[in-house]
Amino acid sequence: MKIVLLGYMGSGKSTIGASLARHLAMDFMDLDDYISQREGKSINEIFAQRGVIYFRKIEALCLRTLIAEPSDMVIALGGGTPVYGDNMNFLKETSKVTTCYLKLPIDILTQRLWESKATRPLISDINNIEELEEFIRKHLFERVFVYQGADHVVVGKNQSPEELVQVIAELLNQ
Ligand code: S3P
Repeated sequence: MKIVLLGYMGSGKSTIGASLARHLAMDFMDLDDYISQREGKSINEIFAQRGVIYFRKIEALCLRTLIAEPSDMVIALGGGTPVYGDNMNFLKETSKVTTCYLKLPIDILTQRLWESKATRPLISDINNIEELEEFIRKHLFERVFVYQGADHVVVGKNQSPEELVQVIAELLNQ
């Protein structure tokens, strides 16, 4: 079985995913890390040197490679993964894949992303927090219809990662 976490940048996919995998004694893979390792470059470098279209192509390829692995696994997607190409349909149509949308409020996303924007190519050149919030609001509005198509939606607020892991594990009956 593959448990796939999706959601906007900063929603905690990697942190929650790693912790969920430990809780369920499954392997964990972060799709961005997998892409980075494969390319021998950071995500920022891939965007800067090869461009966004190349990144989206490799992202779709790496997603399919990970899903084809025989082992059970928790996979944290990148924020844009389900939104591009046929990725969301691919996930929905593949058996033994369960998708889970981590839905966080805009104020929490803004605060987290303001502190970590340097490593995120889509927002690294936004230089004030109001502008960042406006960007997230519009960007999320474009993406949320795809995210909501996940098998499960988990609404995060101020819960600890452990609490969210518990909620997800119960949702998945694990
Ligand atoms: C992106 C999100 C990033 C990374 C890339 C593009 C997006 O992943 O894949 O910078 O389009 O939202 P995280 O959501 O893990 O930050």
